[in-house]
Amino acid sequence: MFVLWKPCYCIGDELIDRQHQRLVSLLNYLYDRIMEACSKKVIDLVLMELIRYAETHFQDEEELMRRINYPELDKHQKEHERLVTEVFHFKEKFDRGLATKMELLHFLREWLVNHVINEDLKIKCFLK
Ligand SMILES: [Fe+2]
Repeated sequence: MFVLWKPCYCIGDELIDRQHQRLVSLLNYLYDRIMEACSKKVIDLVLMELIRYAETHFQDEEELMRRINYPELDKHQKEHERLVTEVFHFKEKFDRGLATKMELLHFLREWLVNHVINEDLKIKCFLK
């Protein structure tokens, strides 16, 4: 296991918490495939699934923030945009052979966990 989900990562919304856990599972799945030395084709498929899932999740999270009138919605939305740009940028680096598989995994771990801890957890206090 590459990333361990901790209960303290929960923001208190069932859908969002489930999606965060799914993102962690996808990252662990990617780690396992990389450890098994799977082909680039397989790794690309899992990576794209993770990115697509993250994009859908960001939309759902923004929907939740809108629903609860979250005061930092704009800032958070921009942060999501930045995250999407950043992950595609890293993917391109990886595709060009300018980043290793381990660098990709470490990037994705920081990318995901830092956002959940630094940004998503702020939503928690605005949920009943
Ligand atoms: Fe978020």
